[in-house]
Amino acid sequence: MCIFFVWGFLALFLSLATFSFALDNGLMRTPPMGWLAWERFRCDIDCKNDPKNCISENLFRDMADRLAEDGWKELGYVYINIDDCWSSMERDSQGRLQADPTRFPGGIPKLARYIHDRGLKLGIYGDLGTHTCGGYPGTTLDKIKVDAETFAEWGVDMLKLDGCYSNATEQEKGYPLMSAALNATGRPIGYSCSWPAYQGGLPPNVNYSLLGDICNLWRNYGDIEDSWASVLGIVDWFMTHQDILQPAAGPGKWNDPDMLVIGNFGLSVEQSRSQMALWAIMAAPLFMSTDLRTLSSEARAILQNKAVIGINQDPMGVQGGRLLKESSGIEVFWRPLSDSASTLVFFSRRTDMPYRYTTSLGKLNYTAGVYKVYDVFLQKTMPMLKDSTEFTVSVNPSGVVMWYLIPKAGVWEEGARYPDPRHRSRVTL
Ligand SMILES: *[C@@H]1O[C@H](CO)[C@@H](O)[C@H](O)[C@H]1NC(C)=O
Ligand SMILES: *[C@@H]1O[C@H](CO)[C@@H](O)[C@H](O)[C@H]1NC(C)=O
Ligand SMILES: *[C@@H]1O[C@H](CO)[C@@H](O)[C@H](O)[C@H]1NC(C)=O
Ligand SMILES: *[C@@H]1O[C@H](CO)[C@@H](O)[C@H](O)[C@H]1NC(C)=O
Repeated sequence: MCIFFVWGFLALFLSLATFSFALDNGLMRTPPMGWLAWERFRCDIDCKNDPKNCISENLFRDMADRLAEDGWKELGYVYINIDDCWSSMERDSQGRLQADPTRFPGGIPKLARYIHDRGLKLGIYGDLGTHTCGGYPGTTLDKIKVDAETFAEWGVDMLKLDGCYSNATEQEKGYPLMSAALNATGRPIGYSCSWPAYQGGLPPNVNYSLLGDICNLWRNYGDIEDSWASVLGIVDWFMTHQDILQPAAGPGKWNDPDMLVIGNFGLSVEQSRSQMALWAIMAAPLFMSTDLRTLSSEARAILQNKAVIGINQDPMGVQGGRLLKESSGIEVFWRPLSDSASTLVFFSRRTDMPYRYTTSLGKLNYTAGVYKVYDVFLQKTMPMLKDSTEFTVSVNPSGVVMWYLIPKAGVWEEGARYPDPRHRSRVTL
């Protein structure tokens, strides 16, 4: 008895000790949302000739104004995130990072106050290595503590830590060290790790269990570009490896397929809807990288679609994936949602004309019953659908049809990890 008690106590103690290594900052229980400078504004530092678009405090203040005044903040887009090229080429006399004095004359603390005054949060960028990818001062292992403290003092709410100019050994040390250093500041700071992207994104080089313990989100794969080919390449990689990636995600820990490029130059309206729909399926962070000052009304309607945002932000936080790849070029994606709901995305890789795809919920393995269906982009409730009823959706080339489904009335099997409308047999409808 006594021995069992001791072992039980020890086991409890050990599990608590292990637990203390977990990232427990209470942040990002649903995928983070906001705006990130990189894809659209890159390392444009030519403020003399391109003052509206260069990386400067004016750009971030402009975008903060837009998030606060154009209805974004209320939808959850609250982060304003700086990427590379914000800093001075030199650390200060005490070895601390400092903002470029001509492009950020007020410094980061003043910008943080401006952003916080508008009910928003500020993200900043660092790089584990000798230099950032753009050649600015990096955070070597000996600088991790001072940089974490500097960001916390400045009032920063999120850090993206890139991985240029460091090797695998340094990354293995540095990413957990930064996590601990951010925690030690006492300021809750969301932590985005580029580590897996530098290690090929897959086990055994990448340990997703460890990443979930130390980072809130992580970049698995290469940078997005302003093109449909780039979006498709990312989708292909994430779906090919979905069995590895899907279990890694959950509240507080997200796979990050990179920014939304909707509103820029490379995607059609159909393709923009597809990016939004597939990022919702993937439970991806939603960081827009576009000029919110000149955004078209079509792009705005997609980015501000409440149903697709609600699906992305589902509190259960289960990442979805691809169910089916038809030889016709139609693919079906699915994600389980809380309260017995789910989402289906019908996506076309075709390049000819709208394709009429016929199936039934039963064929997609939905449990027998009647479902309420809402078309996310038509913004319309559809007729109720029985699992056995065949239906046809018309999917445009490189476009999607996205549905939100709930059982007409359902009670889910008790103790199930999540209500899975496809595989639960004891559903009362
Ligand atoms: C630091 O970690 C501890 C233990 O996991 C946690 O309780 C605390 O909230 C964390 N603090 C911050 C600021 O992240
Ligand atoms: C990684 O870089 C460190 C510091 O530059 C060096 O000491 C170490 O040998 C390198 N390790 C590998 C595996 O290249
Ligand atoms: C991955 O990291 C976890 C800590 O989260 C550790 O327990 C496990 O041993 C690691 N796995 C491998 C294969 O290194
Ligand atoms: C439905 O379930 C069957 C049997 O488990 C499986 O073979 C089939 O691939 C599933 N179909 C889909 C679309 O998930």
